Amino acid sequence: MRALKNILVSGGAGFIGCNFIRFLFSKKDFSGRIINLDALSYAGNMANLSDIETQFGGDRYFFEHGNICDRPFVERVFKEYDIDTVVHFAAESHVDRSILGPQAFIETNVVGTWTLLDSARCAWKNTDNSLREDVLFHHISTDEVYGSLTETGYFTEKTPYDPRSPYSASKASSDHFALAYYHTYGLPVTLSNCSNNYGPYQFPEKLVPLMILNMIDGKRLPVYGDGKNIRDWLYVEDHNAAVWLIMEKGKAGDTYNIGGENEWENIKLLYTLIDIVADKIKADPQKIKNTITFVQDRLGHDRRYAIDCSKIKNNLGWKRTVNFKEGLERTVEWYCANHPWIENIRTGEYQRWIEKNYSQRSKK
Ligand code: NAD
Ligand code: TYD
Repeated sequence: MRALKNILVSGGAGFIGCNFIRFLFSKKDFSGRIINLDALSYAGNMANLSDIETQFGGDRYFFEHGNICDRPFVERVFKEYDIDTVVHFAAESHVDRSILGPQAFIETNVVGTWTLLDSARCAWKNTDNSLREDVLFHHISTDEVYGSLTETGYFTEKTPYDPRSPYSASKASSDHFALAYYHTYGLPVTLSNCSNNYGPYQFPEKLVPLMILNMIDGKRLPVYGDGKNIRDWLYVEDHNAAVWLIMEKGKAGDTYNIGGENEWENIKLLYTLIDIVADKIKADPQKIKNTITFVQDRLGHDRRYAIDCSKIKNNLGWKRTVNFKEGLERTVEWYCANHPWIENIRTGEYQRWIEKNYSQRSKK
């Protein structure tokens, strides 16, 4: 039986991680502790969890400010909280940034993942050098490791890896290390590779929140290339329910693909989003459509991602619950209702706020 009691969530101040922590605390049958370990990079935001800090802080919720590449820090966290489970979200996550500067991706996604894996292996050793059996390291990855599809076909768990951006190459490398630790040392590892998430708290550099905020501000909507690249979209809550199911019941050494079975051409997604935002802010949809601007394509832009998620559906009984229109409406609603969050990110006030509030705590 897995303990799932003292759970280290890396990257818990980011988009998916903060939604995961909120999801776990909303579960009636979860009574464990969550230790959120996050470096608070540009994408990490303490305000994402201020309500959780107020409700559970110091009792079932703990924040540890630091870098997953910092071995002594990571080891101290494992020891201090008697960590029995890791769910590893922390990453550099944006493809465009990886094209401009791959180094941070190699540091965090490759070296950082290895540091966490190796710290777990050392922390979870029994006195006879065997490994504890009630522990789990769940590694979060992306469908982008499988490369790019043409018009047909789907990524399955058996699709050979073919990463094509510095981001996906770094995630592929981290996946290989995670599985290598399972095969070599017997570390209980599970993996999930998911499609494009959307929902509240996503940093507005990614397609959906960037477009929503640009629409609200009357700014142009930059579409890369011909706008016909295809992504599969998954509401973040559905993703997190799948992650938890894998943590509870997934087989060690196994990979699970998670997808929304919801493929959209970027331009068609944009038209749908325009209608939702126009309706919400009482604007003329045609006027917003006129701001669509096709811009220079992303280098090496993957054409299509699509996921076959029958394994997690059949083996673990997961299914998507939020349809795309409903998920987009909820997301638009959230961005319209959270101006202070957005302003903090935009003005740099947020960065100063971190320095003021957390520099003391990081020197523990
Ligand atoms: P995000 O960029 O919103 O958040 C990443 C978090 O990791 C931030 O809080 C950041 O401060 C933290 N972090 C970064 N470097 C760190 C370091 N060296 N040490 C400690 N913390 C660090 O990312 P996200 O969208 O929430 O993605 C989470 C995970 O899911 C990533 O592993 C990503 O590759 C994967 N994923 C995301 C998507 C998606 O659509 N967003 C899709 C597939 C897979
Ligand atoms: P993104 O949200 O960056 O996710 P990923 O690259 O990991 O799939 O981009 C989603 C799609 O939207 C991708 O095909 C690139 C495209 N895109 C634009 O057309 N314009 C933009 O401003 C952004 C950020 C993305």
